[in-house]
Amino acid sequence: MPEKRKKLYEGKAKIVYETEDPDKLILHFKDTATAFDGVKKAELKGKGSLNNTISSLIFEILHRHGIKTHFIEKLSDNEMLVWRADRFLVEVVVRNVAAGSVVKRLGFKEGERFERPLVEFFYKNDELHDPLVCETHIELMNLAPMEAIPVMRETALKVNDILSKFFKEHGITLVDFKLEFGKLPDGSVGIVDEISPDSMRLWDAKTGEKLDKDRFRFDLGDLLEGYRKILKRIS
Ligand code: TMP
Ligand code: ASP
Repeated sequence: MPEKRKKLYEGKAKIVYETEDPDKLILHFKDTATAFDGVKKAELKGKGSLNNTISSLIFEILHRHGIKTHFIEKLSDNEMLVWRADRFLVEVVVRNVAAGSVVKRLGFKEGERFERPLVEFFYKNDELHDPLVCETHIELMNLAPMEAIPVMRETALKVNDILSKFFKEHGITLVDFKLEFGKLPDGSVGIVDEISPDSMRLWDAKTGEKLDKDRFRFDLGDLLEGYRKILKRIS
């Protein structure tokens, strides 16, 4: 069992600890739910464990398909072991169906399926509310290495194929999701952070019921009940 040492960083939903191996970190998933860049906040007992479990399961699926991520192993209910990464300051969003900011920003109708998946980059900055950026901004502001941009786009689309199929088999529509990337200790570009119902929109394929964090964002129902339904179906 890796040893939890110094606390490196505490974010809204996770705490990062160093271990005895300088290349490996422990992610602790907190029972905190936040939305709108931390403006809305609640403590929900059991959320950390659900997100850690779902995220670990998804990373394992991606590994089986040869996708590089920081995930090493699930350590306990609330903790996973990951490779230390030099994180890029962009969030990569893939959308299959219109929802959320793309509805507000471009006037798409919620629920409208795109002809092909839409990939967008956002600047990871809570104070600025994660604005949409182009490749030129990423280059000018040094948000990620230029050569990583096509890698992020292609990886995000591959992940979309894998996870769309996976969720569909379990009666769930993958509406959209967010990925973060960084440089791993072996120098390759890989997925970091979490892939959980906090960072994806997942709708029941039959009823359209929203099972993800939109339940919390817009008071649509018990958040953890939605997360439990997702976990039950996919495990
Ligand atoms: P958006 O429609 O608000 O731009 O969100 C797109 C997807 O990204 C959605 O699945 C939720 C996820 N997301 C995050 O994981 N973190 C964020 O800070 C935001 C704004 C969205
Ligand atoms: N991830 C952001 C937050 O936790 C925004 C959101 O998901 O709505 O505040």
